Amino acid sequence: MSVFSRKAISKRCTHTLTTWQCSEVRVSFDRVAEIYDRTRGFPSHAMRQLTQALTVELSGYKAILDAGVGTGRYARSLQESGFEVAGIDIARAMIGKAEERGVSDLVLGDACFLPFKNNSFDATVCIHLLHLIREWKAALQEICRVTRSALVSLIYVYKNPMWDAYDRLLKAYGYEGRRFGKGEWELKNLVSPSRSVFAAAYDAVADERLEYLSRRAYSYQWEIPEDINEKVVEKLKRQFAGTVFHQELLLLTWDIEDLQAFCEPADA
Ligand SMILES: C[S@@+](CC[C@H](N)C(=O)[O-])C[C@H]1O[C@@H](n2cnc3c(N)ncnc32)[C@H](O)[C@@H]1O
Repeated sequence: MSVFSRKAISKRCTHTLTTWQCSEVRVSFDRVAEIYDRTRGFPSHAMRQLTQALTVELSGYKAILDAGVGTGRYARSLQESGFEVAGIDIARAMIGKAEERGVSDLVLGDACFLPFKNNSFDATVCIHLLHLIREWKAALQEICRVTRSALVSLIYVYKNPMWDAYDRLLKAYGYEGRRFGKGEWELKNLVSPSRSVFAAAYDAVADERLEYLSRRAYSYQWEIPEDINEKVVEKLKRQFAGTVFHQELLLLTWDIEDLQAFCEPADA
């Protein structure tokens, strides 16, 4: 494990951070670190709304873990707002981008083996991570172990019709996109969040997404052969080019106690 800054982290770490354990299957985003923000970004007004809503949602807490911190787009704004944030990610290049953005207290490591002492953080932010981890429940358990009060995540309110069409077309060619664990969307159906608040709204331009889909920018597509992807995206372009989708984002907050009860039921 390597630590890029030790400011707030060292007092919370459990070991010397020279070696690190990781899950069996790892979906590292090193390959897309250069294009991550461009391909997953929200329009700037929506990003502002979202980070403001996140700050409000976390008010009352001080020490925050950003699990799957990526390029640090949330960690940076939380640190600027005065939170003590540590970020962890398995992708060195993503962490490098977070560092360039000015995020401090970054750890290279796996969410399934968090190198932190019990109850080190008041809250954990975990955005677009769990679906990448086959042992997603182990990651959730680890988050519960190191977090005192809350887990906060983000979901889209509407399913993008283009993704549904992409899925259907892939299936017609005998392929499926890749998802390992349950996403935060599915988690809300397994454990009720204690809060759900509107975070932001924006219009997504299909042409941009089509361009990224054609370059297989999304982890969901990484195992789809290039020629199949090309055929599918050509069909999508005929259907969706020039369209715009309205999207809304919700912040969900779970009480750690509820997640603990889900991960380790009393009668287990
Ligand atoms: C979709 S990105 C989300 C990044 C950030 N939360 C955001 O929303 O901008 C997922 C991130 O999780 C990281 N990741 C995947 N599996 C992980 C694991 N087991 N432990 C820690 N990070 C992981 C990836 O490398 C990637 O940077």
